[in-house]
Amino acid sequence: MSFPAVRLRRLRYEPAIRRMVQETSLSPERLILPLFVRSGQNVRQPIAAMPGNFQLSIDELVKEAEEVCPLGLGGIILFGIPEKKDAVGSDSMSGDGIIAQAVRAVKQTLGNKLLVMTDVCFCEYTDHGHCGVIQKMPNGCNDVDNDATLENLVKQSLVHARAGADVLAPSGMMDGMIQAMRTGLDREGFSHLPIMSYAAKYASSFYGPFREAAGSAPQCGDRRSYQMDPAASAGQAVREVQLDLQEGADIIMVKPALAYLDIVRMVRDRFEGVPVAAYNVSGEFSMVKAATERGWIDEKAVVLESLTAITRAGANIILTYWAKDAAKWLA
Ligand code: PBG
Repeated sequence: MSFPAVRLRRLRYEPAIRRMVQETSLSPERLILPLFVRSGQNVRQPIAAMPGNFQLSIDELVKEAEEVCPLGLGGIILFGIPEKKDAVGSDSMSGDGIIAQAVRAVKQTLGNKLLVMTDVCFCEYTDHGHCGVIQKMPNGCNDVDNDATLENLVKQSLVHARAGADVLAPSGMMDGMIQAMRTGLDREGFSHLPIMSYAAKYASSFYGPFREAAGSAPQCGDRRSYQMDPAASAGQAVREVQLDLQEGADIIMVKPALAYLDIVRMVRDRFEGVPVAAYNVSGEFSMVKAATERGWIDEKAVVLESLTAITRAGANIILTYWAKDAAKWLA
C-alpha cells in the first residue's frame, strides 16, 4: 500500500488556512439591490412570486433606501411601475414620471451616501409590454422599431440623469443603444455619467417572476427578436460586449447569471480591465425561495455559495434580490 505524498487536503483542515488560500471573497460593496417603485403613499405591495420583495411607493422606497444605506451595498437599481402605461411608455420620458420622482426623493434624502442606478427600458411603461416602440414588420407581425426606440431611450436617459441617477443601466437590447445614449448624455452635460450596459442579455425564462413584479409581460409575442438566443454561440456575446464597449459602455453586464457563468467567465477573460456585472435574476431567486419554504435547502448557504460562484466566474458586481440579506450574513 502506498500513500499519497501530494495531499490537497492539507490546506483544508484548518479554517484559518482555508481562508488564507481562498481567492474568491464576497463583499457587500459588490452587491446591487433591485427595487420596484410605484405610485401611492404607504404602499408595500408584496410580489407573490418573489417573497420579501415589494412594489414600494416613493415614501416607502425612501425608508427602504435609508435602511439599506448602512449595509454598505454597492447601491440600488430602480425599476418604475407607472400609474398609466401607453404605447410608447410616456411616463418614463417625463420629468414627473415615477422614476424621476423616485430618484429625486432618494437623492434628496441620502445624497451621495447611496449609489442609485436606474434601469433604462420601456417594457415596464408600455401597455404592450415590449421594450420599445412597436412597428408592423413586412411579415405582418408586430416588432420593436429599433431606431425609433433609440430616440426615446435618449429622452428617458436624460430624465434619469436630470433626476440625479448615478449610473444608467439600459436593458432593452436595442442595437446602437449605448452610442445613442452616450451622445445624448454628453450633449446635455452628462459626460461624467457612467453607463452599465445589459450587454449580453438572453431571452430567458428566468425573468418570469420579474414580469409579475413590474407588470411587464409582453401582451403578445416574446422578446426573442431583441434579446439573445440562449443557444447562440458564445461568440455572439463577445460581439455584443465589444460593440457596447466601442459605443462607450463603462460596465458590462451578463444576464441571467447562474445558467450563464460560462459567458461571465469568457467576458471576464476577453475584456481585461472592464468591470463585469452579472444579474442574479428573479427566477433564480424564486426557485431558491420556493425550495427554502419547503425546507428542502438551506437558503443562506445556497445563496452565499451561488454568489461566490458568480464572483469566481469573474463578476465584479452582482445584482441580486438577496443583496440586503447577503450583506447581513457577511457582516
Ligand atoms: C427590463 C428588464 C427585465 C429584467 C431586468 N430589466 C425583464 C425582461 O427583460 O423581461 C429582468 C430581471 C429579473 O428577472 O430579475 N427589460
